[in-house]
Amino acid sequence: MMSMKFTASLSCCVWLVMAVATAAQNAPVLDTSGKALQSGVDYYIKPAVTDSGGRFTLIDRNDSCPFYVGQENTSGPEGFPVTFAPFAEGETVVRESRDQKITFSALTICVQSTAWKVGETDSETQRRLIVTGDDQNEGISGPARNYFRINKQADHDGIYNLQWCPTELCETCKFNCGVVGALVENDKRLMALDGSIPVVFERA
Ligand SMILES: *[C@@H]1O[C@H](CO)[C@@H](O)[C@H](O)[C@H]1NC(C)=O
Ligand SMILES: *[C@@H]1O[C@H](CO)[C@@H](O)[C@H](O)[C@H]1NC(C)=O
Repeated sequence: MMSMKFTASLSCCVWLVMAVATAAQNAPVLDTSGKALQSGVDYYIKPAVTDSGGRFTLIDRNDSCPFYVGQENTSGPEGFPVTFAPFAEGETVVRESRDQKITFSALTICVQSTAWKVGETDSETQRRLIVTGDDQNEGISGPARNYFRINKQADHDGIYNLQWCPTELCETCKFNCGVVGALVENDKRLMALDGSIPVVFERA
């Protein structure tokens, strides 16, 4: 009895140590001034290269709710900042390749929240659009559609891409993971999976 208890408590603590060690391994995501991204702080997301649209913003795709995640047509002062909320409890730093909720700091006329969510598949391109709203357990258990990760681009400090692959929420799930990229529809720059747009984060 004693030894069983000991084994159980030992495995708990080994697991805890491993979890903490794994978290510490991921480098912080850096903003354009080289500082670590903080949870709950406003940042603009913008393309790392010129001539590929402006800051990320809310897009009225079709005169109806919800708003979609997209970009301004040109670089400039417009657009809405976002905040990050890491899935890992108590985490205050946004780390590479970890899952977090991304939410626009903006109010809209829609009842939906402004959190990013993997939405419907575009019929023309078969790409999954990024929409705003809270995941209500849509098809996948839990709020997995609301969690995105930031991956460092190889050999480019401070340049990242955004990916949907929420394995922290469900380790055994086989997600059809995808990288976020632009999808131009009726001259509107929407965001959808299965593309790629290198981005930087600018503190608002
Ligand atoms: C916009 O809404 C109209 C009316 O509901 C619909 O016919 C049209 O297909 C929609 N367009 C897009 C791009 O979703
Ligand atoms: C970009 O331009 C198109 C076409 O003029 C317009 O419909 C769209 O609303 C513009 N996007 C933004 C974010 O202003």
